[in-house]
Amino acid sequence: MEFKTLNNGVKMPMLGYGVYQTPPEETESCVSQALEVGYRLIDTAQAYDNEEGVGAAMRKSDVPREEVFITSKIWVSNMNYERAAASIDETLRKLGTDYVDLMLLHQMMGDYTGAYRAMEDACKAGKIRAIGVSNCYPERLLDLCMLAEIPPAVNQIETHPFLQENVAHANMEELGVVHEAWAPFAEGRNNLFAHPVLSEIGAKHGKTAGQVALRALLQEGIVVIPKTVHRVRMEENFAVFDFALNADDMAAFRALDDLSFKRIFDHHDLPTIKWMLGDLVKKQQLGGAALY
Ligand SMILES: NC(=O)c1ccc[n+]([C@@H]2O[C@H](COP(=O)([O-])OP(=O)(O)OC[C@H]3O[C@@H](n4cnc5c(N)ncnc54)[C@H](OP(=O)(O)O)[C@@H]3O)[C@@H](O)[C@H]2O)c1
Repeated sequence: MEFKTLNNGVKMPMLGYGVYQTPPEETESCVSQALEVGYRLIDTAQAYDNEEGVGAAMRKSDVPREEVFITSKIWVSNMNYERAAASIDETLRKLGTDYVDLMLLHQMMGDYTGAYRAMEDACKAGKIRAIGVSNCYPERLLDLCMLAEIPPAVNQIETHPFLQENVAHANMEELGVVHEAWAPFAEGRNNLFAHPVLSEIGAKHGKTAGQVALRALLQEGIVVIPKTVHRVRMEENFAVFDFALNADDMAAFRALDDLSFKRIFDHHDLPTIKWMLGDLVKKQQLGGAALY
């Protein structure tokens, strides 16, 4: 395993296991298998409704708690100081642990600066080892880095071969923020798992297109958290540290970046944001309460 050292000295594995869209009733079994395969970073979120399954798998595993890096994320309906603070305690209860390694603001919506202060306080109280953000665009990240008491350690954004996010990456490098890729496989879009360029590179190394995508992102210094519910794929996605892409391979990978790619989740698309603030926040039972 390779690691990134965060801006507060905490070490974060560069390859993790994501559980977005993993059904709550399957999560314990999936995470148990991922731990057996060797994953030591598990990426969950309040909105995934499966923190309990992650916690159950951790408790049943032989792997010591301190060897597993757990990430969770504060959902939009908890985006102010009081709600975020209470939700951190709820996350700890659901995970059955007294600290999480990394807590992120899931979306930069609502009173996210209040929620960020709640994460800072939880960090000082030892409930969180490192704090960060997700879906945070460069100008917001710069603002947080310059004005927050504890600057964010990580920014988790959609990143894959067709959306390499070079500008955001350079900004993060300059600010000392680790770039973490969500949907490193683009959730299979653009035929990623059989993509001719990725497959051709893979054939030279005896690897699959998916493994090439992960390896290339890792070589760019990006943390990856692929999701799968299948053990054989967990093993495949984990086997990316026994080969290296050369300069020609990386040039071919970089040429796949496509500025016209339609993001899986576009934060500048008003219907998408309306859906999230309306439907999803309601579902999470914000009720009539205001966040501001
Ligand atoms: N911060 C955010 O807003 C945000 C948003 C989205 C995701 N995330 C995080 O990032 C993680 C990864 O992103 P993601 O789950 O959206 O997408 P992803 O990892 O890019 O792709 C997952 C898809 O690829 C399939 N797959 C995985 N390995 C495969 C393989 N070796 N061969 C063929 N198919 C394979 C999976 O199917 P099977 O499961 O059927 O194998 C699933 O359909 C999430 O689980 C979550 O932790 C964060």
